[in-house]
Amino acid sequence: AQVDAAGTPSAAPVVEQQPISKEVTILYGSQTGNSQNLAKSTEKKLKEQGFDVKVSSMSDFKPNNLKKLHNLLIIVSTHGEGEPPDNAISFHEFVHGKRAPKLNDLRYSVLSLGDSSYEFFCQTGKEFDQKLEELGATRLHDRVDCDLDFEEPAAEWVQGVLNGLNQTQGSSQQAIVETAEAQATESVYSRSNPFRAEVLENLNLNGRGSNKETRHLELSLEGSGLTFQPGDSLGVYPENEPELVAELIKELKVDANEKVTIKNDSYSVQEALTTQFEITVLTKPLLEKASAFLANKELQPLLEDSEKVKEYIYGRDFLDLVRDFGPWNGTAHDLVSILRKLPPRLYSIASSLQANEDEVHLTIGAVRYDAHGRERNGVCSVLCAERLQPGDTLPVFIQNNQNFKLPESPDSPVIMVGPGTGIAPFRSFMQEREEIGAEGKSWLFFGDQHFVTDFLYQTEWQNWLKDGTLTRMDVAFSRDTDEKVYVQHRMLENSKDLFEWLEEGAFFYICGDEKRMAHDVHETLLAIIEKEGNMSREQAESYLADMQQQKRYQRDVY
Ligand code: 2AM
Repeated sequence: AQVDAAGTPSAAPVVEQQPISKEVTILYGSQTGNSQNLAKSTEKKLKEQGFDVKVSSMSDFKPNNLKKLHNLLIIVSTHGEGEPPDNAISFHEFVHGKRAPKLNDLRYSVLSLGDSSYEFFCQTGKEFDQKLEELGATRLHDRVDCDLDFEEPAAEWVQGVLNGLNQTQGSSQQAIVETAEAQATESVYSRSNPFRAEVLENLNLNGRGSNKETRHLELSLEGSGLTFQPGDSLGVYPENEPELVAELIKELKVDANEKVTIKNDSYSVQEALTTQFEITVLTKPLLEKASAFLANKELQPLLEDSEKVKEYIYGRDFLDLVRDFGPWNGTAHDLVSILRKLPPRLYSIASSLQANEDEVHLTIGAVRYDAHGRERNGVCSVLCAERLQPGDTLPVFIQNNQNFKLPESPDSPVIMVGPGTGIAPFRSFMQEREEIGAEGKSWLFFGDQHFVTDFLYQTEWQNWLKDGTLTRMDVAFSRDTDEKVYVQHRMLENSKDLFEWLEEGAFFYICGDEKRMAHDVHETLLAIIEKEGNMSREQAESYLADMQQQKRYQRDVY
């Protein structure tokens, strides 16, 4: 339970200014949960300072209340090609639409999360920031755009916001210290202090001859105090491949054993490149910083052309950069000062704590491909596939994901669409529902390339069908027939039943590939609603928007 620390300050100093509201509203738009977590930690910070804070997902906020607010903090990530996350879409539309009110009395600040390897870095945050200004609102503190490594800039933003709030307060209020046992039961392990989880099991789920390698990992959470709900994700801190690190050190001609200091800790260059920094992704800011230490001046003209930069960084890594534009003439210290911190990878959890106490299971597709004449490996997935044995440990943390949750009622029907590794959270859902004896109907759509080699967790699904935990299952193996069949084809074949389930209040979940699969499934869902509900396209869209509002349409896509 949250302890609400916002009391009325006992001896408010007599100041000339009219009393200014201590109310602060934090709205977040979050896809993977980072913005949501930051909203929560910001709430805590502000409450400690005596502010009366309300936190809400943008999708739960009634936009008509916007004009009643005094202080608004927006924490929002950017998704895909500059799009807002799912739970920010409707609020983003409202603020940018004709019905947006004048906001002359509003003070605000925006914290935007993004990834500088994408062209439209922090786009959604920038749009909110600009639009609120246009609507007449005043900034409490300048917008901060965070890269993957968001913790520090986010903490600075919170401090800046506090200063801004206190300035407009006219007096610095005595900090009210929270009487907090609230945190007592929480684990000491977190994103910034990960738990080293022991690997219990590491299997390839695909059969011999498959084009794919999907790892099933079981990790122990024993002693960590970490807990999670179905739908949550596990953050994993990976290490770079030793061979790649060695190649890079050779190319840079730096001493692998030279010591560098990173936030007060000392590492050898080799350790730092293995555990601390991202070396497999290029970003425009990295190219700009690196150009000071790369002898080949061809890099300069390239940097002036955004299109060329975009084309160059696609599929290339830091080793390519040094090979193409070296020799490197910086020091080891220069090197570590320009690289981005190695970010954790998030995986949808594939097990339920109810069913597997003190364990967390993952379903990880090994990423391997050729690009620019070299074989490339996904940092974390190939670590799991090739270099992780039972008994080894991995630094992990739990990332709550409120955007992907089982219905509150165990009686509500669920429809789950999860081809490939998208199956993971639904295994967790079924484990949970079996364990609690849920009565609600459930329907799985699964797809992959071949029935014989790629039916992930086949016997588990068949057992759940047999014992009634799973009501229906439709599968689409895309490469067993001449014509491709995908999960959405199975949905269409069953459109009448599917619409009936929706009418009965079913929750509809999609997990997996975003760009193609989730997009096509979304379109198919609209088509089904249109056809079976005798609706126009607009009506179908608003039907789906209502479902989303009721949290009956949820996506976990990547
Ligand atoms: P494919 O590789 O044969 O094209 C899991 O990866 C499954 O999702 C595979 O069977 C894959 O088929 C399929 N898939 C690829 N694109 C898809 C799309 N747009 N919609 C649905 N499934 C898709």
